[in-house]
Amino acid sequence: MRGIIFTELYELVEEKFGFEFLDDILMDLELTNDGAYSATGNYPFSELLNIVVKLHEHSKIPIPDLLEVFGEYLFTRLLSMHPELAKTENVLDFLEQVETYIHVEVQKLYPDAELPKFDIVSKDDHSFKFYYVSSKKLHHLAKGLIQGLSNHYKQPIEIKMGQEDDKGVFFEVTRI
Ligand code: HEM
Repeated sequence: MRGIIFTELYELVEEKFGFEFLDDILMDLELTNDGAYSATGNYPFSELLNIVVKLHEHSKIPIPDLLEVFGEYLFTRLLSMHPELAKTENVLDFLEQVETYIHVEVQKLYPDAELPKFDIVSKDDHSFKFYYVSSKKLHHLAKGLIQGLSNHYKQPIEIKMGQEDDKGVFFEVTRI
């Protein structure tokens, strides 16, 4: 997993809970370099999961909620890393382009990135339906990222997320 995901998670935890809280969590874990990640490095996904589980244990916040709040925050940070990849300000078009353009370019820039796939079901002016497909099962992070996208462009949306089935996790995003 790209280092930027770890460094941004640290930023958020420090902002919300303070440095000592973050330090306590890191002391509890065995992490690469004692948890000193570089934004441009690549690290085991299992370490991210371990940090999230510890965060849950220390804060008592459910893991899905933690991932959604993190996704909301992460969107603008990912965007500011590569603003040139944003070709539209329409949230539904943007979401489609994450699959057809943005993640494609991200994969070229970082060949070791492991990105999810969106299997697009339908799209019109009001809604975008797709299946989130990834072995990482970070659909709650995806939901938070989509909310972050909506906040960023100030276009309110409703996000319906289904249960995981053999096609992935179904999302229906509607402009409201
Ligand atoms: C609403 C918009 C977006 C959604 C829903 C989304 C979804 C995701 C999800 C769920 C992951 C975690 C990996 C997985 O689930 O398999 C991910 C990873 C990532 N995404 Fe996106 N993304 C969005 C926008 C962006 C943008 C704007 C950028 C950059 C300009 C970006 C770059 C990345 C990068 C660098 C990773 C990390 C890959 C790795 O660690 O190997 N994403 N994305």
